[in-house]
Amino acid sequence: MKIPSATTAAVITLAAIAVAAVTVSIAGPAGPAGSHAPQDGSISHGRYLVTITGCHDCHTPGHAQNGGHAPPANWLTGSAVGFQGPWGVSYPANLRLTVQSMTEAQWLVYARAERRPPMPWFSLREMSDQDLIDIYRYIRSLGPAGVPAPAPVVPGGKVSTPYIDFVPHN
Ligand code: HEC
Repeated sequence: MKIPSATTAAVITLAAIAVAAVTVSIAGPAGPAGSHAPQDGSISHGRYLVTITGCHDCHTPGHAQNGGHAPPANWLTGSAVGFQGPWGVSYPANLRLTVQSMTEAQWLVYARAERRPPMPWFSLREMSDQDLIDIYRYIRSLGPAGVPAPAPVVPGGKVSTPYIDFVPHN
C-alpha cells in the first residue's frame, strides 16, 4: 500500500474540514428541525408588510410623530387619539389584542371587513391570503400588550378623548 505524501494528507484533511463546514452550515445552529423554522419567513415577511404599508402610522402611538420610531413595546397597541369626521370618532384598534382571540381563518374574514375611516380596509381586502396570514403571524409574534382602544363614537356623540379633526377645511 502506498503511503500518502505529506501534501496528499494535507489536501485530504482540508477536504474533510470543508465537508464538515458545509454540513454545519446546512444544519444551522438549531439543527435541521428547528421547532418554529417554517413560520420564520412568514413572520419576517409580515413585519416587512406592516412596515411598508403604514400600519404603524395609526396603530402605533408616536410612530408618525417621531419619524417612524417608537418603542417596540408600543408597536401596534392602538391609540386613544380619535379621528373625527362624518362617521363620528374612530380609534385605531390595538391589533396585538385583536389577533389573540382569533384563528388565521377568522382573521382572513375579519381583516377584510369594511371599517370606519381613516382605516384603509380596502387595502387589506386586496391583499393575498398569504400576505394577510404573514401579517397575522407577525402581530401575534409580538405578543399581547397595551389596552383596548376606546369604543367608536357615533356622529354627534360626546367625545371624551383627544381627537384629530379629519374633515377638509378652507
Ligand atoms: C390612517 C390610519 C390607519 C392606518 C394607516 C391603518 N389603520 Fe387599521 N384602523 C384604523 C382605525 C381608525 C380603525 C378603527 C376603525 C373602526 O372603528 O371601524 C382601524 C381598525 C383596524 C382593524 C380592525 C381591528 C379591530 O379590532 O377592530 C384592523 C384589523 C386593522 N385596522 C388593521 C390595519 C393594518 C393591518 C394596517 C396596515 C396595512 C392598518 N390597519 C392601517 C386606522 C388605520
